[in-house]
Amino acid sequence: MLIDNIGELVTNDPELGVIRDAALVLGDGVVRWAGPGAQTPEAAGTERFDAAGRAVIPGFVDSHGHLVFAGDRAEEFAARMAGRPYTAGGIRITVEATRAASDQQLDATVARLVAEARRSGTTTIECKSGYGLTVEDERRSLEIAKAHTPETTFLGAHVPDGDPDAYVELVTGAMLDACAPHARWVDVFCESGAFDGEQARAVLTAGQAKGLGARIHANQLGHGPGVQIAVELGAASADHVTYTSDADVEALASSGTVATLLPAVEFSTRQPYPDARRLLDAGVTVALAADCNPGSSYTTSIPFCIALAVRECGMTPTEALHAATLGGAKALRRDDVGHLAAGAKADVVLLDAPSHVHLAYRPGVPLVARVW
Ligand code: NIG
Ligand code: FE
Repeated sequence: MLIDNIGELVTNDPELGVIRDAALVLGDGVVRWAGPGAQTPEAAGTERFDAAGRAVIPGFVDSHGHLVFAGDRAEEFAARMAGRPYTAGGIRITVEATRAASDQQLDATVARLVAEARRSGTTTIECKSGYGLTVEDERRSLEIAKAHTPETTFLGAHVPDGDPDAYVELVTGAMLDACAPHARWVDVFCESGAFDGEQARAVLTAGQAKGLGARIHANQLGHGPGVQIAVELGAASADHVTYTSDADVEALASSGTVATLLPAVEFSTRQPYPDARRLLDAGVTVALAADCNPGSSYTTSIPFCIALAVRECGMTPTEALHAATLGGAKALRRDDVGHLAAGAKADVVLLDAPSHVHLAYRPGVPLVARVW
């Protein structure tokens, strides 16, 4: 298929860059060609879509989501907006509801959220377990998740269920054995009220020994060892990264670990936002993700996250779009998504706007006109 008359094509390719008056050729699920419209190859195919001068961008790569859950926590949110602080403890409310739900109910929720995310331009989405906390509930969470995305993450170490040391033994033993076949990644919530540094290291190294890639919830509610552990273990991503020391920033900058910012969490928990400017200026690779979950961030909207990142975290609109596409791809160690060079997956978003800047400039407006 040929998409032509593109006012602005954001390719995220170092050579192609941003192309005005562009065209894009898709075929067999991949990008065949991207470039100036005047140079469109003759054999571009017969199906043609006229973008009418609007902007085309890569589909968003949302590298952090907790989509397998039941119920919601609207009352907790309302209480927070009346002044009650966010704590990790709320996770247990969702665990109870999730355990009581049927496979069909959980599957329907994941399907609903993946479809909702897609309508706002997300074409790759990561999905964690973590609201089961028993061997069987974690295993079935991942089995349900993997029917919807290849990017599945074992987060048995979300909060300890019972005695923390005994629980870590379960997570690194029988639970990991049952879950690893259904997961690509292992994750741990390293935070006070969840798991300390030593426990986090044990969870991630056990997962790595089973062939899973590591990622971590780090430094969300306060300073902690999570970012340093991520770098030390070669994790693909350290997520949240709200409270960081200079040493944390330096460690990230000289590593292959992406810092994934989740500003919708700070919005929904009324916490200070992470400082993306400081990370970018230090040379850290930054991703933006939604962290969709019923507790700290019940949104699937990456455009909303982009607007927040620009307004509250010191990113430019171009940096925020980059972080939500190529940044997310790097956080998932994927080179086939997040950009539109020839050979990339044909995950393409048409905006009802002449430029990607409108994603932040027109907050709250549904600008995604079409998703391929
Ligand atoms: O990423 N931080 C840990 N997990 C989620 C919150 C989960 C919840 O509150 O239910 C997060 O913010
Ligand atoms: Fe999370």
